[in-house]
Amino acid sequence: MAICELVDVHKIYRMGEVEVPAVKGVSVSINSGEFTVFSGPSGSGKSTLLNLIGLLDVPTKGQVLIEGQDVSTLSEDALGVLRAQKIGFIFQSFNLIPVLSAFENVELALQLSDDPPKRERQDRVRAALVGVGLEKFMDRRPSQLSGGQQQRVAVARALVKEPALVIADEPTANLDSKNSAQILEIMQRLNDEHDATFLFSTHDPMVVNHARRIVHILDGELQRIEEK
Ligand SMILES: Nc1ncnc2c1ncn2[C@@H]1O[C@H](COP(=O)(O)OP(=O)(O)O)[C@@H](O)[C@H]1O
Ligand SMILES: [Mg+2]
Repeated sequence: MAICELVDVHKIYRMGEVEVPAVKGVSVSINSGEFTVFSGPSGSGKSTLLNLIGLLDVPTKGQVLIEGQDVSTLSEDALGVLRAQKIGFIFQSFNLIPVLSAFENVELALQLSDDPPKRERQDRVRAALVGVGLEKFMDRRPSQLSGGQQQRVAVARALVKEPALVIADEPTANLDSKNSAQILEIMQRLNDEHDATFLFSTHDPMVVNHARRIVHILDGELQRIEEK
């Protein structure tokens, strides 16, 4: 089943008098369990597409469907609920809260969404951190962790909600090649073991090589889809 579908989506940014067409008529589906990469050079529209799929922005024209539902029919509140329940985000800059430990950063994601009882919540946080190999570092703050470890906390935070879709915008952009490879391996394993659906963007050939399904983007248009 398609978790997410874009139908002839356009996005034009307006800056005063100037119009920037960032996405020009993209149609694409992301199915459950897939590991898809949006690949393209800087400025090609990858982040714009991920923001549209992640319900952080709305298209100028065309439809965004999440599990078959046209999201333009939803209220602001309903969109927020859908985003919180269905989508986990991983950003290139990690976006962890500096005064919270790794454990607390991951726990916060659950407190903000469905808020399970404390015991269950803590079990899930622990399992998520063990899943990314951080069992020994749960009490550390982001500043006490390496970049690769911080990104693993961000992966755990995105996964702990068990979202239908995990969106990662250039997740390895601020990591060296060793840490990039590690993060990719972890995400690949989580994709295999938990059937979590992953959607990435990157312009890094190493990341592209890891993907089974590559959507090539250029100048706001879908060039081709490569399946391996
Ligand atoms: N908020 C914005 N306002 C105006 N133009 C933007 C904005 N965000 C992105 N753009 C422009 O849209 C195009 C696509 O950008 P983006 O989606 O960030 O590409 P990528 O993530 O592939 O680097 C670029 O020309 C960029 O300058
Ligand atoms: Mg980008």
